[in-house]
Amino acid sequence: LRKTTPVRYDQTRECWDVFRYEDVQYILKNPKLFSSKRGIGNKRESILTMDPPKHTKMRNLINKAFTPKAVNELTQRIQDVTIFLLDQVKAKGIMDVIHDFAGPLPVIIIAELLGVPIKDRELFKTYSDILVAGAENDSDEAFKAMMKKRQEGAEFLTEYFKEIIRERKSSPKDDLISLLLAAEIDGEKLTKEELLGFCILLLVAGNETTTNLIANAVRYMVEDTVIQEQVRSDLSLVPNFVEETLRFYPPIQAIGRIATKDVEIGGHTIRKGSQVISWVAAANRDEQKFVQPDRFMLERHPNPHLSFGFGIHFCLGAPLARLEAKVALSILLTSFSKLERVEHVELEPIQSPFVFGVKRLPIR
Ligand code: HEM
Repeated sequence: LRKTTPVRYDQTRECWDVFRYEDVQYILKNPKLFSSKRGIGNKRESILTMDPPKHTKMRNLINKAFTPKAVNELTQRIQDVTIFLLDQVKAKGIMDVIHDFAGPLPVIIIAELLGVPIKDRELFKTYSDILVAGAENDSDEAFKAMMKKRQEGAEFLTEYFKEIIRERKSSPKDDLISLLLAAEIDGEKLTKEELLGFCILLLVAGNETTTNLIANAVRYMVEDTVIQEQVRSDLSLVPNFVEETLRFYPPIQAIGRIATKDVEIGGHTIRKGSQVISWVAAANRDEQKFVQPDRFMLERHPNPHLSFGFGIHFCLGAPLARLEAKVALSILLTSFSKLERVEHVELEPIQSPFVFGVKRLPIR
């Protein structure tokens, strides 16, 4: 598609698809031409669906919780949780990477960061998965059922967070919700709605994506045992391995925008108000940008993949996701002398055009 129809209109989905690196990057770095204001199954506004100047203000407010320095302070805790999770599966001799390892890790970390009790983590996983789940099939009924479930999930989490926010207001703790309750920009605080929207966004944006990054990395390792051995024998290669996994198997395949005026891309005029889907997964394999794009290259450097987006909406949680993946994979590799797939189990993809990952990944 990148070669034959790099920009195309899809009548059925009523949107434009864009596949080339240069075009995708152009869209993401021009928020004035391509707005983020779009519905994502949840009516509450979040920074993900805001444009400047409101986006800039909100992002500045929450930025400091996610700087690499702030995130690095979580290293020890991420190590402890990783070791705890692996200890639990070691005795079994087999594990489902999603259920036993890559699923719980980000939920535990974000729940602790927000100040949510760990006992609720199963509940969080369930509801954050519901919020990002795709429809069972292409029918209208399946779409309606999905929207209904998402609505219910959002309502549940809203009530849940309302309670926590109420508690933190009267007795602040050393957590993100307390920090956000106290934060101000130009003398203004976040409204309750904004705070709620942000809490839910962190669960939705951070959990499944990081789970899929870790699981996609393990999947690649069991598919390519030469690379697995190379990384195991030199753990300083883990960060490169994580970046190449992000490029090769991006957890988020595409990013949506709305054209704010008539714009020309690749010889096509995209009319104001049209939906535009930027296919990050295709851009990451663009031969105009990457040498041998279909080869997984540990030594690839620089690696300017677009898997965390680009420009003003660049993933706020990227330092956290990278750290979690680095710690989780390093400890996994040192804990097991060889990781192998359980052959008779077919890999089943997650049912969503925008998410790349599998539902289960049994390994031993
Ligand atoms: C934004 C991907 C992990 C929080 C984004 C965007 C992408 C992305 C592509 C840009 C969306 C756009 O331009 O519309 C990923 C991937 C992750 C990951 C692949 C894991 C491998 C996380 C984590 C958190 C997080 C762990 C937080 C705990 C956010 C937030 C935004 C965002 C808050 C919105 C930023 C803004 O609009 O300014 N992410 N993300 N993400 N991500 Fe992530």
